[in-house]
Amino acid sequence: MSRLAGKSALITGAARGIGRAFAAAYVAEGATVALGDINLDGARAAAEAIGPGTYALPLDVTDQVSIDAAVDAVEARTGGLDILINNAAVFDLAPIADITRESYERLFAINVAGTLFTLQAAARAMIRRGRGGKIINMASQAGRRGESLVAVYCATKAAVISLTQSAGLNLIKHRINVNAIAPGVVDGDHWDGVDALFAKQEGLVPGEKKAQVGAAVPFGRMGTAADLTGMAVFLASTEADYIVAQTYNVDGGNWMS
Ligand SMILES: NC(=O)c1ccc[n+]([C@@H]2O[C@H](COP(=O)([O-])OP(=O)(O)OC[C@H]3O[C@@H](n4cnc5c(N)ncnc54)[C@H](O)[C@@H]3O)[C@@H](O)[C@H]2O)c1
Repeated sequence: MSRLAGKSALITGAARGIGRAFAAAYVAEGATVALGDINLDGARAAAEAIGPGTYALPLDVTDQVSIDAAVDAVEARTGGLDILINNAAVFDLAPIADITRESYERLFAINVAGTLFTLQAAARAMIRRGRGGKIINMASQAGRRGESLVAVYCATKAAVISLTQSAGLNLIKHRINVNAIAPGVVDGDHWDGVDALFAKQEGLVPGEKKAQVGAAVPFGRMGTAADLTGMAVFLASTEADYIVAQTYNVDGGNWMS
């Protein structure tokens, strides 16, 4: 299929996990994809593994110079930016009494400010070019309600949902659609780390938290990155032109809204 034929996309945090899977899915639909990541070696390896149609870019979404350079590099290489996926994010957990200012500031810098200012740089480029665009933010079921040990990450993802609404409303006059995907629990490197943090905090054996959250999903298992690619392609395609400021749950039935 070629629902994204000729489109130029930038995916942040694409060295592994969901961002990498989205890159492969976009290339399969005909797009050219920049894999931006703070882990440049990982982004290069991912681009090489996916093959033609991808390239790696150094990108730290907490650094405005780096964000602007990445958007400039995409424009220089492909003639313009059509699609941005704000995917880079980090996780942490702690009981309220133990949350550190350092953890709070790191998560908000990457997950919230990183999303907003990458979105802004992409929107500026899209407005200059005058051909509209698609921006997809990665939210989470964690943004739908708080969790006892996950206050800061949940708050960052609630902020992503809110920013998606405001940016969606502000930018649609430029024919830039801003929407978000809210996954549930997606297996991979990220959740290996989450599982280890829960194991330490709750005295579980490695793998136990994953088994618990997987069994609790109405679908009957944790998600995979591949479960999300259909929504990511759809939201970037012309089929989604009339969809504005929405956050879609792709979570096996965990959350309804
Ligand atoms: N995995 C899940 O269960 C799950 C659930 C809900 C939402 N999400 C969201 O989906 C997105 C992708 O998740 P994932 O599981 O693939 O995560 P991941 O941890 O596997 O990948 C995140 C990527 O972001 C990169 N990154 C970190 N800091 C960066 C920075 N400052 N600048 C640029 N890149 C940076 C990392 O190097 C990594 O490659 C995230 O926004 C995450 O919050 C994931």
